[in-house]
Amino acid sequence: MCGIVAYIGAREAEPILVEGLKRLEYRGYDSAGVAILCGDGLRVVKEVGRISRLETLLVERRCAEGKLGIAHTRWATHGAPTVENAHPHTDMSGKLAVVHNGIIDNHVALRKLLESEGVVFKTQTDTEVLPHLFAKYYKGDLAEAVRLGLKDVRGTYGIAVVHADQPDVLVAARNGSPLIVGVGDGEYLVASDASAIIAHTTRVIYLEDREMASMSREGFQTTNIEAVPTTKEIQQVEWDLEEIEKKGYAHFMLKEICEQPESLSNTLRGRLNFEDGQAVLGGLTACAKELTRARRIILTGCGTAWHACLVGECMLEDLARIPCEVEYASELRYRNPIIEDGTVVIAISQSGETADTLAAVREVRRKGALVLGIVNVVGSSIARETDIGVYLHAGPEIGVASTKAFTSQLMVLVLTTLFLGRRRHMAQHQALELIKGVSEVPNQIRRILERAGEVEEIARRYKDRENWLYLGRGYNFPVALEGALKLKEISYVHAEGLPAAEMKHGPIALITKGMPVVFLANRGLQYEKIMSNIEEVKSRGGVVIAIATEGDEEISQRADHVIRVPDVAEPLQPLLNVVPLQLLAYHVAVLRGCAVDKPRNLAKSVTVE
Ligand code: G6P
Repeated sequence: MCGIVAYIGAREAEPILVEGLKRLEYRGYDSAGVAILCGDGLRVVKEVGRISRLETLLVERRCAEGKLGIAHTRWATHGAPTVENAHPHTDMSGKLAVVHNGIIDNHVALRKLLESEGVVFKTQTDTEVLPHLFAKYYKGDLAEAVRLGLKDVRGTYGIAVVHADQPDVLVAARNGSPLIVGVGDGEYLVASDASAIIAHTTRVIYLEDREMASMSREGFQTTNIEAVPTTKEIQQVEWDLEEIEKKGYAHFMLKEICEQPESLSNTLRGRLNFEDGQAVLGGLTACAKELTRARRIILTGCGTAWHACLVGECMLEDLARIPCEVEYASELRYRNPIIEDGTVVIAISQSGETADTLAAVREVRRKGALVLGIVNVVGSSIARETDIGVYLHAGPEIGVASTKAFTSQLMVLVLTTLFLGRRRHMAQHQALELIKGVSEVPNQIRRILERAGEVEEIARRYKDRENWLYLGRGYNFPVALEGALKLKEISYVHAEGLPAAEMKHGPIALITKGMPVVFLANRGLQYEKIMSNIEEVKSRGGVVIAIATEGDEEISQRADHVIRVPDVAEPLQPLLNVVPLQLLAYHVAVLRGCAVDKPRNLAKSVTVE
């Protein structure tokens, strides 16, 4: 999704902006551009495709004295990915430039109005109304012009604005799109994502909706759109640069898959009480009573986080005995959901910025629900807008396809289940057993990762197949969905995840000779049923790849390939089973020559509807 980085200070802006853009590459983009204030005015350089192409152009048009600039990676929504449509966009004089994330809902009306006033538009974007609007209000004070302009705007925005006549002013504003201000020594950076600026500073302020900041080299001021000054606290970003680098791995995705023993240990750190069989979740204690009395839980999220919700539903119903429902955030927000007394909503999001999830949170809170956020990015919008929460502590996830955030989401759901379950129906011995199981998971994942070579072999054999099925039951049905999603996202192969029993109601018609079918076939309650489903596939010529329990010999007779995982309680199986499926998708994608960390058309954090 679109990314913003901006700089004002004493250093040359261009290398800082380009490096920031590169750090934002992972979010997904199709074009990029910068505007730097040079001696002769604003120098705007834009290009489609990779940042490296923009960099080549910038070398030719270097502006070493430019110490103020804004930059952007664009993920097209309105208007094709062309050089013209790339940001920054300028006003008619070419003196005022804007980069923008989000969508201006009333851009058609604003465009008509500005055109009637003589403005000539150069692009098809919704964003272009902004520089013209700000120029219309500009009377020598950029911050005031931006403020007045934004009062006319409906929609979402994170923006950074510069004007050639004000070389010591950088203006930023946000409404619904994430934006942070990095506070350095005599310099300020603005970014849509902390990873773009933490090489320079880890001290940041988070802008709220309808809030703006005006920065100069001497200091900054924040106000809301109504010009009322606001007071901001400077906060510390926890992540460091090392964590957002590849450390010798070929791809971020592989690094993040391999990091799971550590990321899960971090998620668990200090949160298990081995004596009482309890989870220690400081972020929930303030509302422990209300949570314990919950009569119904709605779990919501998008993409991979939605799959985590499905596993959470199984756990919370099975072990904490609370009726649950799972809703896509994009559906929940428009469904006029019924929120009765005792309804708790759990919103799950890696980025904490997904527009649909944030809107769903706002909708259910408006209706009186207590909302619990399970989020990775500290200080993100969802983290701030929920009543209570539990951070994942998984560290930054850069690969677009979510991996370590998913397992940490599952882990936090186990902890939340313990927290609620022990206050309701769960016996101490039952909880202690679960806690013991949970604490062994990081090492068990280490063991699975040692077998990565076997998974790669399977990938090599079937990499050219264009249709795959993933089947599981109970706790493992969401894992089937997640395994299929991983393969689709990064290798562009068609894959479908299903509850294994549903296969016979339609999808079985798809099975032809040689079609790979991945089964989650651990020992457990539904093992025999899964065996029957395997037979159904085999008898139609399908190739069975089974994720199965260590020591299960029977499965070797039936499946074509077996990937072994340690024997664990059913609620914990998803945590282990998903790891070989992440590796399988990764290797298929690499072998097919796909851009694993930057899959086509996808964005890491979807901040538009
Ligand atoms: C995008 C990403 C997915 C992710 C989903 C939800 O679609 O490509 O990998 O699962 O957003 O993101 P969130 O940050 O809310 O977990």
